[in-house]
Amino acid sequence: MNLNIRSAGTGDIPDIKSILSQYILETELVDDNIDQFIVAETGGRIVGCTCLVSSMDIIELRSIAVLPSCKNKGIGRRLFETLMQRAKGMTDRIFVRTTAKDFFEKMGFEALDGSQKPVLWQDCADCDKLDVCMQVPMVLELR
Ligand SMILES: CC(C)(COP(=O)(O)OP(=O)(O)OC[C@H]1O[C@@H](n2cnc3c(N)ncnc32)[C@H](O)[C@@H]1OP(=O)(O)O)[C@@H](O)C(=O)NCCC(=O)NCCS
Repeated sequence: MNLNIRSAGTGDIPDIKSILSQYILETELVDDNIDQFIVAETGGRIVGCTCLVSSMDIIELRSIAVLPSCKNKGIGRRLFETLMQRAKGMTDRIFVRTTAKDFFEKMGFEALDGSQKPVLWQDCADCDKLDVCMQVPMVLELR
């Protein structure tokens, strides 16, 4: 597969939202953060995306998703590795809140205690679903 990973532009917003929607991932942040997104493209089609977002002094990997028909072909890893190249020099550690814990463990992340979520993220502190939320907070130390 000839895969190209590139920065996203405003023209990619509908495709990114379409991919995220397939997994019921948040799409509200895409418009305001499109400059922070990267996309994976093959045969002129966008098949995956992810981005880095900073909030409350931390940098978080968000919105990583690969089209269902393209999963398990190394695209998620390529997106992750490209984003980490970009993160170098910006921060010492990358955070994520995820239900894909096993994937992120493969990428080198370690799970944090769930009690860290409202400490690290204001939107978690404000969320009335915090008690039932399945997202695991994780961190990757960049070396
Ligand atoms: C998580 C996701 C982005 C991974 O993308 P992908 O292209 O399928 O992953 P890759 O093919 O690059 O896999 C890289 C490695 O992770 C493993 N892996 C991928 N998905 C995994 C999962 N859900 N659980 C455990 N391991 C997983 C692969 O087996 C592979 O391992 P290997 O290198 O030892 O062979 C993709 O499954 C996805 O879009 N999931 C739905 C959206 C989602 O939940 N995103 C997370 C939001 S924070």
